[in-house]
Amino acid sequence: MQTMMQTEALPRENFLPFALPLIGEEEIAEVVDTLRSGWVTTGPKVKRFESEFSSYTGASNSLAVSSCTAGLHTALTALGVGPGDEVILPTLTFCATANVVVHLGARPVLVDVGLDFQIDPAAIEAAITPRTRAIMPVHYAGQACDLDAIYAIAAQHGLTVVEDAAHAVGTTYRGTKIGADRLSAQYPELRRATAFSFYANKNMTTGEGGMITTADEELAHEMRVLSLHGMSKDAWKRYTNAGSWFYEVVSAGYKNNMTDIAAALGIHQLRRLNGFIQVRRHFARLYDEAFAGSEVVQTPIKHDDRNHVYHLYAIRLNLEQLTIDRAAFIDQLSEMKIGSSVHFIPVHLHPFYGEHFGYQRGDLPCAEAIYDSILSLPLYPSMSRRDVDDVINAVQQIASTHRR
Ligand SMILES: Cc1ncc(COP(=O)(O)O)c(C=O)c1O
Repeated sequence: MQTMMQTEALPRENFLPFALPLIGEEEIAEVVDTLRSGWVTTGPKVKRFESEFSSYTGASNSLAVSSCTAGLHTALTALGVGPGDEVILPTLTFCATANVVVHLGARPVLVDVGLDFQIDPAAIEAAITPRTRAIMPVHYAGQACDLDAIYAIAAQHGLTVVEDAAHAVGTTYRGTKIGADRLSAQYPELRRATAFSFYANKNMTTGEGGMITTADEELAHEMRVLSLHGMSKDAWKRYTNAGSWFYEVVSAGYKNNMTDIAAALGIHQLRRLNGFIQVRRHFARLYDEAFAGSEVVQTPIKHDDRNHVYHLYAIRLNLEQLTIDRAAFIDQLSEMKIGSSVHFIPVHLHPFYGEHFGYQRGDLPCAEAIYDSILSLPLYPSMSRRDVDDVINAVQQIASTHRR
């Protein structure tokens, strides 16, 4: 491990939160403009945000929704996933990825991840049965999973793909942004959509919010209708010169639309996103350099064919070298006034998934070993260099104090 930085003594004076959004004056002015405009729900700003998001990602269609969870649910519903179907997803994800499958009466089939924390294509292949309908890969932490391998499997078995890109706005895989049309051109028969999150701790935020992208015009239309009560027309047009009072309900839809207030934030967050990512990557490099060669801290595995936008910077602790466990490590960080978190408790270890689907510890060993030793450090653009150094120093100090 490299020598410690010159920082003030730890603990810090103020608590360093694990994550914070960075909202600028442009966002605030745009929200105020929306509030003054008299149009606060889905309207012109949502349209603008969708169009700019399509340009950014390289997607033909973008649909703004109230959350990534709503986006995943809307996409799976429009793709016809339902009772009797199985949907394959990694266990190392947020519960939302699995919960939406359950909401549709389908069975979430949880599979293991590799040492890079990403869903293991071989585990997907091994989990396929005649009931498998879809794959939901998750781009963990803001690095893409192995999409070429996953899409080859999906195409071979006639499956649909809904990518959980909650962490991955701005992420690229082999030169293409996540959510772009490219894979649809490569696999024209395969139906697919990608859902992003703009939750408060994400690389860009609308408070709560999400976006679905797809190259599939028909799917885009179905999702748009489903996301707003199943009404055949955009509700917002009903109250403008462009619309009329008449609409028809063509499906029992949901209330998953985004408001113009949220979109006002999103428009400017999107413009600043590349700058945010640059800072995240810079701080991640500082962490990488500080922990290089450490026998206690293992830095995240990166792939050369994918950029990493570092929604999360998740280290692994070599517990064999420590006299304390991960939970105690977190407590020590907290005592030094540094926030941290764990991503994620594997879905199969949550009581609901054990009780209803029979999962237990031992089923997915790689994810379990990762879970026991993983720790997400603070990483966000409003951190100062001094904050980053404090985190490095605290980790190094705890590691050396509790070295076996
Ligand atoms: C992997 C993953 N999927 C889905 C979600 C749900 O996102 P949202 O809060 O926008 O519904 C999250 C949220 O943190 C997540 O981490």
